[in-house]
Amino acid sequence: MTTTAILTAAGSGDRLGHPIPKALVPIADAPLVVHAARRLLASNVVDALVVTAPPGVVGPMARVLHDAGIEPVIVIAGGATRQESVAAGLEALPPGAGDDVVIVHDAARPFAPVSLIRRVVRAVREGHSAVIPALPVADTIKQISAGDRVEYVVGTPDRSVLRAVQTPQGFSRALLEQAHAVAAQRPASDHATDDAGLVEELGEAVVVIRGSSRAMKITTQTDLRIASALFDEEPI
Ligand code: CTP
Ligand code: MG
Repeated sequence: MTTTAILTAAGSGDRLGHPIPKALVPIADAPLVVHAARRLLASNVVDALVVTAPPGVVGPMARVLHDAGIEPVIVIAGGATRQESVAAGLEALPPGAGDDVVIVHDAARPFAPVSLIRRVVRAVREGHSAVIPALPVADTIKQISAGDRVEYVVGTPDRSVLRAVQTPQGFSRALLEQAHAVAAQRPASDHATDDAGLVEELGEAVVVIRGSSRAMKITTQTDLRIASALFDEEPI
């Protein structure tokens, strides 16, 4: 049983607004992609690592990972959407066995703890074909409809049954490949923002396990400062 991690790092980071791609932005001694890769390998449950890089920086990203001692690793060009990047990562995997596990993780969540990575992989190995970490939401979430100049509230879902979903997400390889094969038919505007969403559309069960506040996603400059503080608190 082989476990492969696809680390998505091909985004540009528009909302961060940094001149270089988000995954290459440093915190302390290393860029985000290196922090995330270190934790995946330190988990000792990941046998192979595939990183998706923005097409223009495949070489530089491979060098950054190599210089940080991240190996073995395969660096490939990602696609125009996250979904396409994960699909490209799946294409790059060597032929596998029926019980192989794939976890998909975002470089934008560089400090997802080793313990979380292990819990996700364990749950898949125990027989759940799709596993996602998630946390209860602190904010009240409104559903809105966009009008001409303003947004209107159309509903308030019960917060107690809402979850904010994180990565790594873990899957049986066969199920994830099937989900991506079906989803690849859709236009980019309909692409999913996480992989579990594609599995849900197949009607398959997705198991939710407890996430971690340390697996927070870096989207904005404020997130970058919060993540830096987390790292100062507990560097690895
Ligand atoms: N990602 C990817 N390929 C893409 C788009 C995103 O591999 N075409 C990755 C990002 O590198 C990131 C993860 O998917 O690790 C989650 O995406 P997000 O946080 O939205 O990152 P960006 O797309 O880089 O940021 P933005 O949307 O602000 O441009
Ligand atoms: Mg994005």
